[in-house]
Amino acid sequence: MARTVWDSTVGKKTVMAVSGLIMLLYLVAHMIGNLKIFFGPTEFNHYAHWLRTVGEPFMHYEWTLWLIRVVLVVAVVAHAVCAYQLSRRDIRARPSKYVHQRPRASYATRTMRWGGIILGLFIVWHLLDLTTGTVHSGGFQAGHPYQNVVDTFSTWYGDVIYIVAMLALGLHIRHGFWSAAQTLGVGSRARDRALKTAANVLALLLTAGFIAVPVGVMTGVVS
Ligand code: HEM
Repeated sequence: MARTVWDSTVGKKTVMAVSGLIMLLYLVAHMIGNLKIFFGPTEFNHYAHWLRTVGEPFMHYEWTLWLIRVVLVVAVVAHAVCAYQLSRRDIRARPSKYVHQRPRASYATRTMRWGGIILGLFIVWHLLDLTTGTVHSGGFQAGHPYQNVVDTFSTWYGDVIYIVAMLALGLHIRHGFWSAAQTLGVGSRARDRALKTAANVLALLLTAGFIAVPVGVMTGVVS
């Protein structure tokens, strides 16, 4: 049963929709959390510390955070594997044997594929930058994310990488939210306009909320 669902196109699209929505929930929370940077280092660093103690005393230090990390990794891997398999299937299903006659993938499909690749690379860079500090520009200090974020956005390439990735994220969510609604059967003729508006508003709010942080550092509002 599970095998049949996994092998079917609609099964893979459902996995993409559900994993996408899980990541979207995380992103809304992450974006709101990031905005606390505008209230200064004490509040921001305290919030980062709280992320590690959520659920205590029932949970041990960092257990809830690790639970979230595991769910996110499963969601990212499932999303990427299904995207890859669906796109292989799509290419194989095209009728023509001749490369020059092959119909080009639509604008939305190409944007989703390239956007997905950019976001995958961004997540790796972001974790090496602000979680492990491996590629961080300044002297990375674990437990002091405020200063780490300021250091990242004090370099031109930090600003470029994050702003380009956030624009890709906006486009990806705009189309992805809409596609997920269709896959999960929420779409209908009457509801499609409202769903498109919701997708646009969500994409715009997330992109603007995330980009506010590098812009805050670039303009000296956060320093
Ligand atoms: C301007 C945009 C962003 C900023 C300023 C930012 C900031 C941060 C910071 C400071 C941390 C480390 C938190 C800590 O260790 O306490 C972090 C972790 C993380 N961020 Fe972001 N983030 C941004 C965008 C994103 C986006 C778009 C994604 C996903 C596509 C993302 C995914 C993550 C993940 C998965 C973690 C690791 C959480 C963990 O396991 O500890 N971030 N981010």
